[in-house]
Amino acid sequence: MHDFQYHGEELYCEEFPIQAIAKEVGTPFYLYSLNTLENHFRAFDSAFSKVEHLICFSAKANSNLAILRIFVRLGGGVDVVSGGELFRAMKAGAPPGKIVYSGVGKRPDEIEYALEFPILMFNVESSQELVAIDQLAGRMGTKAAVSLRVNPDVDPRTHPYVSTGLKKNKFGINLQKSVDEYQLASTLPNIKVIGVSCHIGSQLTDVGPFVEAVQRIKELVRKLRAEGIQIQYMDLGGGLGITYDQETPPHPKEYAQSLLNELSGIDCTLILEPGRVIVGNAGILVTQVLYTKEGGEKNFIIVDAAMNDLIRPSLYGSYQRIQPVQRKNQIEIVADVVGPICESGDFLARDRQLPKVEPGELLAVMSAGAYGFTMSSNYNSRPRVPEILVAKDRFYIIRQREDYDDLIKGEFIPDFLA
Ligand code: LLP
Repeated sequence: MHDFQYHGEELYCEEFPIQAIAKEVGTPFYLYSLNTLENHFRAFDSAFSKVEHLICFSAKANSNLAILRIFVRLGGGVDVVSGGELFRAMKAGAPPGKIVYSGVGKRPDEIEYALEFPILMFNVESSQELVAIDQLAGRMGTKAAVSLRVNPDVDPRTHPYVSTGLKKNKFGINLQKSVDEYQLASTLPNIKVIGVSCHIGSQLTDVGPFVEAVQRIKELVRKLRAEGIQIQYMDLGGGLGITYDQETPPHPKEYAQSLLNELSGIDCTLILEPGRVIVGNAGILVTQVLYTKEGGEKNFIIVDAAMNDLIRPSLYGSYQRIQPVQRKNQIEIVADVVGPICESGDFLARDRQLPKVEPGELLAVMSAGAYGFTMSSNYNSRPRVPEILVAKDRFYIIRQREDYDDLIKGEFIPDFLA
């Protein structure tokens, strides 16, 4: 359940009419509901209440400082994949001891930055990375806490671009080879092995693949312990899906229960890295109709948001529900909802049945809270849109709209061209 509902014919975010926000901030903009964000986080967190656990919100899904802060205040940690995300997590007040750092390509400067605090652990994805972290930690006179991210070779049955736990994917260390890697890790003087981690993919709508992965990880933990390698943390990554259209993903309670059934007696602190399931349906993108073109092969609704603002439909062919902010017209048409970018791939929806809309009307692109703003760009020199947070009957600008000067910030014309 989320807080974007019609009151009469008017779409609200919590107690605030969205039309009124658009009047003040202009369009397009991302809009988040505090209540939904908090409810989703609490629901996920409490699903694991029976065991020692830490919810590290995956910053890549939505890294706005205010959004990270909301989860930090609820006791959450952060899963980061870059120095930039680590910087954001720290600015949002995340305790470094609740930050995990994943990713296949951590640069030396990023590793040093994380070692300075130090963070809870690095999820290490290759033996070269392990050696690099050991050397950097040694140089800094510290010890790096690590888990190895293993690739359990489980098919998550999701979109190939967001599937990560198969042997053919670039992520993690092969499960069979991982015992050797752990042995290497335990010989390195500046490495402290504390855990095991995995992440098999995103937008999973079935618990089956998660359960398979956990079974394999559990076996590995047993083997490692038998070898005298201590494993205190088991990081199971993120990946739980949401409803964009007709999907029926498991509730976090069901997801947690399926994992916990496999893990009784394992005696590890669980780490989860949810992203989408917390923020996806807590945010929307509000856009204004600029023009409509009817007839010919197709109908087009041309709006002021584009693939640079929300790339998921163009990149993954993913479905985002679109609703009018004011329900005016009963007549429906089938149309492509497209943006102003000069690419045919610039669409938010294709062949979509929608109420007939006029220029000036607002549309809400639903389920845009995850991988929406964070994947946005300035393509076609379009300033990035603002992010707004609603709390009951108030709204807060949590990121201002970029202006033209922001577009050229840091660019220089060399003297010889003057
Ligand atoms: N942990 C790791 C190591 C990850 O790679 C990811 C997502 C997560 C956690 C969070 O996964 P989530 O709970 O959000 O599924 N841009 C794509 C999704 C890419 C996911 C990448 N990794 C999309 O818009 O669908």
